[in-house]
Amino acid sequence: MRFSFRRLEKEHALSILRWRYLPPYDTYNFDADTTQEDLCYLIDPKNAFYAILNVHEELEGYYSFGADGQVPGGDYCTKALDIGMGMQPDLVGQGQGKHYAQAVVKYGVNQYRTQKCQVTIAEFNKRAQRVWEQVGLKQIGKFVKTGTEEEFVIMIYEV
Ligand SMILES: CC(C)(COP(=O)(O)OP(=O)(O)OC[C@H]1O[C@@H](n2cnc3c(N)ncnc32)[C@H](O)[C@@H]1OP(=O)(O)O)[C@@H](O)C(=O)NCCC(=O)NCCS
Repeated sequence: MRFSFRRLEKEHALSILRWRYLPPYDTYNFDADTTQEDLCYLIDPKNAFYAILNVHEELEGYYSFGADGQVPGGDYCTKALDIGMGMQPDLVGQGQGKHYAQAVVKYGVNQYRTQKCQVTIAEFNKRAQRVWEQVGLKQIGKFVKTGTEEEFVIMIYEV
């Protein structure tokens, strides 16, 4: 499979904001009531969101480098590049995620000259955990998100 990365543009962000995942993954749907704020957030360069595009320049997913990948309550003492990622809902569950994840880790390590990357994932989301495990990340911690009862795990990759 061939794909490329590009800084997230407004049109990409508007598509992402409309994406709807089926339960139990609907927790990743953006809220229709906060579209304008979310749009500004997604295209703000300091949040480092990137589009994953296929050879026809169609949006297949997106990812972020940095604080967006963190969840309140997690222990982020280890200095590592945080990664967040999401795929276009029609493409999930078909074994493609690991290809994107692998390329994102490689790009992040090179771009940020870092030895470590980490991903914070909802504990229930075994599918996502499996994908990151397949590209070499290992779970280093588990915590409850501040102000909720939702459990999350932190997985780390070391070069
Ligand atoms: C998370 C995501 C990147 C995974 O990519 P994907 O291409 O959909 O994942 P796959 O279909 O390759 O499934 C990954 C693995 O999880 C397994 N899996 C799927 N559902 C599972 C479940 N409920 N429990 C346990 N394992 C599961 C699959 O069998 C596969 O393992 P295998 O390769 O050993 O067979 C993608 O689904 C996505 O972007 N989802 C959006 C919402 C989301 O989860 N966001 C969090 C991202 S960190």
